[in-house]
Amino acid sequence: MYTTRVASTYSARPAAQALKALNGLSRSAVTVVTHRPGLIAIQQQPWTTSKRHFSATPQTQIREFFPEKETDKVRKTEAAWAHPIYTPEQMKAVTVAHRDMRNWSDYVAMTMVRILRWGLDLASGYRHGTPDKPFHMTERKYMVRNVFLESVAGVPGMVAGVLRHLHSMRRMKRDNGWIETLLEESYNERMHLLTFLKMAEPGWFMRVMVLGAQGVFFNALFISYLMSPRTTHRFIGYLEEEAVLTYTREIEDLDAGLLPKWEKMQAPDIAVDYWKMPEGHRSMRDLLMYIRADEAKHREVNHTLGNLDQKNDPNPFVAEYKDKTKPHPGKGIQYLKATGWEREEII
Ligand SMILES: [Fe+2]
Ligand SMILES: [Fe+2]
Repeated sequence: MYTTRVASTYSARPAAQALKALNGLSRSAVTVVTHRPGLIAIQQQPWTTSKRHFSATPQTQIREFFPEKETDKVRKTEAAWAHPIYTPEQMKAVTVAHRDMRNWSDYVAMTMVRILRWGLDLASGYRHGTPDKPFHMTERKYMVRNVFLESVAGVPGMVAGVLRHLHSMRRMKRDNGWIETLLEESYNERMHLLTFLKMAEPGWFMRVMVLGAQGVFFNALFISYLMSPRTTHRFIGYLEEEAVLTYTREIEDLDAGLLPKWEKMQAPDIAVDYWKMPEGHRSMRDLLMYIRADEAKHREVNHTLGNLDQKNDPNPFVAEYKDKTKPHPGKGIQYLKATGWEREEII
């Protein structure tokens, strides 16, 4: 059964005043609406770049989930991997896509994704309606989904990076530049998670689910990457196809007016800093566009790595190409290929 606790609300105010208050709330003035406290507590617009208060109504204060630490000598820590700049046109060009299965390894990877997707849908309460069975995801349901999904999404890149790092040292061989991209991917996924955690604080039930999922997923990927890195990259590529699909649906639902609470929302500061979101392009919709583009990049990277010789090929995403006039893989999404690059095109 759902229980609702509203610490402070502006719902009774006239619309114009409420909008002003939404825009003017400072970091310390936070509204918390909790449904099923064990799962997630949604923080309604706790972040803004403005420090002004438009409303005289006293606000109930809660602790910030993970406030930026300011010590006597250190003001802030910079992102370890600066995010490449995405243009609005590049992000708009991202599409839902599926790489066809070509061999038994692809079938194994796809089957594992279907099983995992089923489990994730069940655990996070995710469904999407059909014309016969209409069903609407709410902002809260999507947020539960996003937090849970991102908490496991940061695992594969780290596992693969660690294993390649150990392999390189153990075998006294070069890695050919793969480790950096793999670790950067897991860093990027963790930034997705930290961004969503600025909007929703997970309860005990969510924490237990994440703990269990991480334990299982880390160990399963560790074994799977030792057995077949190629199949594991394909598996992650197919998983990222699903992530692009989920965020596309969130954007479509937002555009269709089905997620009214997200319409006025602004991206938290952590997101503005990380993606270098320009002024006037810092809405929740903009944020989802950035995150979806990141997922499309992971999709491209992993499908491409799954096409390569795991032991000898260089990482095409950090490589310098002899012919610079031709499109080639890179860090950004300028030449994004939804189903990955074939080996003959780039090596
Ligand atoms: Fe993600
Ligand atoms: Fe991803």
